Amino acid sequence: MPETWTPTSWRAKPICQVPTYPDAQRLATAEAELASYPPLVFAGEARRLKAGLGNVAAGKAFLLQGGDCAESFAEFSANNIRDTFRVMLQMAVVLTYGAAMPVVKVGRMGGQFAKPRSADTEVIDGIELPSYRGDIVNGIDFTPEARIPDPMRMVRAYNQSAATLNLLRAFAQGGYADLHKVHQWTLGCVAGSLQGKLYQDLANRLSETLAFMGACGMTSETTPQIRETEFFTSHEALLLEYEQALTRVDSTSGDWYDCSAHMLWIGERTRQLDGAHIEFLRGVKNPVGFKAGPGMSPDDLLRLVDALNPDNEPGRLTVITRMGAEKVEEKLPALVRAVAREGRHLVWSCDPMHANTVKAGSYKTREFDRILAEVKAFFAVHKAEGTHAGGVHFEMTGQDVTECVGGSKAVTEARLGDRYHTHCDPRLNANQALELAFLIADALKVERAAQSADRAAS
Ligand code: PEP
Ligand code: CO
Repeated sequence: MPETWTPTSWRAKPICQVPTYPDAQRLATAEAELASYPPLVFAGEARRLKAGLGNVAAGKAFLLQGGDCAESFAEFSANNIRDTFRVMLQMAVVLTYGAAMPVVKVGRMGGQFAKPRSADTEVIDGIELPSYRGDIVNGIDFTPEARIPDPMRMVRAYNQSAATLNLLRAFAQGGYADLHKVHQWTLGCVAGSLQGKLYQDLANRLSETLAFMGACGMTSETTPQIRETEFFTSHEALLLEYEQALTRVDSTSGDWYDCSAHMLWIGERTRQLDGAHIEFLRGVKNPVGFKAGPGMSPDDLLRLVDALNPDNEPGRLTVITRMGAEKVEEKLPALVRAVAREGRHLVWSCDPMHANTVKAGSYKTREFDRILAEVKAFFAVHKAEGTHAGGVHFEMTGQDVTECVGGSKAVTEARLGDRYHTHCDPRLNANQALELAFLIADALKVERAAQSADRAAS
């Protein structure tokens, strides 16, 4: 029988990857301020996302999760938010068309600030300073002052998240996402590329279909599904002081929800079974996830599944695998089989970014082909096991950055410095993200054809 959970019970557990704030009084002030602020999301929205993810777990929908590795105060602008949103809309259209199934859209946005680091300190030219842990904790500048954790940064991150969420809701429900605008979502940097052309063809077909539906009486006015979309937010639940301050009792159900985002996940470095992060997340009712790297054993996975989803509720839990392109086929089947054998409902999602990071000179980068290889291997394993490749988890942006190498509009290693803007890991640019969406749509078509063949045979 697990011990009683409270929003503070994580504080009695071992914890990794958190800052040590030098000023306890300032921390208490920031936490009290956040706790007095309104929640960012409503519990009913988190339940809707859980229902959508339940459909993914059942093989009837696909999850598209994406956004920055780390949001930052410097890159905060309406254009950035809009461009990531619109490239996700484009990807969702491509995937919906390919898979003929609904796509659940979840941004790594509106709270994705805190970063786990491989080392506590960073050394440059013989000078050692504490590592940068995301704008919600300290500053990226390599100076002793910037690197001191400042709890008031949590309040700024909350305010930025509130404004981000406000704009996302306006875009999703205020007409921008109307399917009749499918042509207008194309970003300038994508327009001339092969993907731009493929997307144009698809948008033309969609427009024809909409014209036909309109003639039958289904228009934006009569059909909300044409006029608006649902878009959810998520981030890594790493900085638990922030998460606790935004955790509230939902008055309609009496349950606790972490109202900083619709969905929260725990990273590869903080998913210890008896650690603070699992303790915190097990008690909130949001949809939650955890990352699974190549070191995850089937038994460890099942123990985490039990801890986070004891009632085996579909949609509650997403396992985000990040194995590295060449390890997926070796490691993933045993995990998938163990979950199937135990009859556990969960969403399998593929993060092809975090185990495919390499150094190119002074830049961290990722090769498009390796990202694609991990996604393909993920689909191949699920096809072989007869399970649903439920979703993907990307670090991406709508901006035309040069952070990952490769893709059809090839970014070369020599050009990485041209527009390398990320505050942490390298992101797919708009064109690379769309290219992946087309390739995944093809894989989903194959999965769908195999399912129809099975049904026909049985
Ligand atoms: C991340 O998602 O940004 C991250 C740090 O991933 P992981 O925990 O899988 O390394
Ligand atoms: Co990252």
